[in-house]
Amino acid sequence: MEFYEVIRTRRSIRSYKPDPVPEDVLRRVLEAARIAPSGSNRQPWKFIVVRDEEVKRRLVEACHNQSFIAEAPVVIVACGYNIHYNRGGYMGDMSMLVDVAIAFTHLILAARAEGLGTCWIGSFDNEAVKRILNIPDDVNVVALTPLGYPRGEGFSEPGPRKSLEDIVSVDRFQ
Ligand SMILES: Cc1cc2nc3c(=O)[nH]c(=O)nc-3n(C[C@H](O)[C@H](O)[C@H](O)COP(=O)(O)O)c2cc1C
Repeated sequence: MEFYEVIRTRRSIRSYKPDPVPEDVLRRVLEAARIAPSGSNRQPWKFIVVRDEEVKRRLVEACHNQSFIAEAPVVIVACGYNIHYNRGGYMGDMSMLVDVAIAFTHLILAARAEGLGTCWIGSFDNEAVKRILNIPDDVNVVALTPLGYPRGEGFSEPGPRKSLEDIVSVDRFQ
């Protein structure tokens, strides 16, 4: 699939078919995250692939009952190791958020290229997800996504976005 079509037609999918995700497809999607760039190539990430129905049900609770998450055959939980050094600026321990977000974006776009739906889930209880998945103290959850084939309409052109004129300025902040 052409790259710009991938990014233009990726949508947050909130309804899924139960059809399984083939192993080779899942692997390609995870591989896209694996090769993402990160500050100083730290790769401070871990991706948990959840298929177990009971674990998915508990994750829905930890995501404030966003029940569509468990419709998908797979849920991927993106985690980041807290980084205790800071090479450039104010982000400190939380600079891993940037790295993990880049890798998760790779994953989400690769999923779209494979015809798979995703929905970036940022509304979750970090401590609850950590308890459910046995995530250690020095690791935090950055995002989750259901992963599966969309039910119904699925992919479409983007919804409303700010114009380029609104978000781009030249030579200085304007
Ligand atoms: C950081 C972040 C957190 C988000 N959290 C949620 C969420 O918890 N639940 C949800 O349904 N959508 C969530 N979304 C999806 C956004 O609502 C969605 O990306 C936005 O409305 C644009 O729609 P689109 O993804 O279809 O282009 C989140 C997206 C991002 C990037």
